[in-house]
Amino acid sequence: MTAQLFSPIAIGDLEFPNRIAVAPMCQYSADDGSASDWHLQQWMTYALTGAGMVTVEMTDVERRGRITHGCHGLYSDHNEAAAKRTLDAARRVAQPGTKFGVQLAHAGRKASCQRPWEGGGPLQPHQDPWQTVSASDIPFDTDWHTPRALAEDEIHALIGHFVKSAHRAERAGFDFIEIHAAHGYLLHQFISPLSNHRKDQWGGSLENRVRLAVEIVKAVKNAVPKMMVGARISVTDWVDGGLTVDEGVKVAQALEQAGAAYICCSSGGNSPLQQIPTGPGYQVHLAEAVKRAVRIPVRAVGMIDDARQAEEIIAGGRADIVALARAILSDPRWPWRAAATLGEEIRSAPQLARSTSLMKKWVGAS
Ligand SMILES: Cc1cc2nc3c(=O)[nH]c(=O)nc-3n(C[C@H](O)[C@H](O)[C@H](O)COP(=O)(O)O)c2cc1C
Repeated sequence: MTAQLFSPIAIGDLEFPNRIAVAPMCQYSADDGSASDWHLQQWMTYALTGAGMVTVEMTDVERRGRITHGCHGLYSDHNEAAAKRTLDAARRVAQPGTKFGVQLAHAGRKASCQRPWEGGGPLQPHQDPWQTVSASDIPFDTDWHTPRALAEDEIHALIGHFVKSAHRAERAGFDFIEIHAAHGYLLHQFISPLSNHRKDQWGGSLENRVRLAVEIVKAVKNAVPKMMVGARISVTDWVDGGLTVDEGVKVAQALEQAGAAYICCSSGGNSPLQQIPTGPGYQVHLAEAVKRAVRIPVRAVGMIDDARQAEEIIAGGRADIVALARAILSDPRWPWRAAATLGEEIRSAPQLARSTSLMKKWVGAS
């Protein structure tokens, strides 16, 4: 019987050859937002994994929306040209059917930080920091930059930046766009009551707090109607007084209503007080909760690194796709490994084909 992990799935108008996604992963290696040689090797590596869905890293819609000086963006002509060049190269070697998406984002109050390997904290005065923005003027933590609350006209300008970057993503050749509304970045800052204390139409009720993400999904869909547009959310803040799972499910429903074609269910990232019970598949129950409430495909993520575990999630109807981050960094051939484990054949590039029997040997399948 065919492993469900290797069954195709349609999302919007796109056909994906299997249920394995490369999760978006910042590489902190861009030059003023432009993809570098590091991205060239990284996106080409993703292209050869055999994962049907490749989601390129958090890509910021304006310069001040970058987490670090090294974050990838689509806010300039140079960024667009570099992304196109890099994506074209990745496509030339990609496994048949691989679809590439880009995760559009704004870091809000979590911008102006050091790269993780430089400490990951807020940029210090000698490190060229910048003024951050958010829903309210509440810093992420003590000693973090205090953001400036966005004014009404700036919120409309921000939606415009997402639209402009969506056009750039389309011209660069991406197949789909993922709106990043998770992990404590700007859209999540609006959604969570921990970081949004506004009294206007963008704050207060959940309907108001999710409005920015909803308006962005609508505006992006409208701007690039030929592209599939999905969203990633934090289903819960894992903090008393923060976003609850019930509310997270409602956020997913609101984004579905706005036109999102899939929801990726992550969690946390908006408070240093979060208590996350991590462990294998620790967020899958969140995907399940969302899946019960929406009609669009749902992507699970978080400590999914074993082929049988992934197969159980898909075959058990707990999610429609699984996204892998660290497992792919550690083993870009993970989908080959999963195929060998589950008795499936994965089509590899002909240049690599003579090696696939070794994978079967390593997993004890031959
Ligand atoms: C190096 C690295 C960079 C990441 N960058 C992003 C990102 O750009 N956007 C995002 O939504 N999540 C990002 N994440 C989170 C992952 O997409 C994923 O949700 C998380 O690592 C849990 O999945 P895993 O257990 O398979 O690693 C990143 C994770 C890692 C390890």
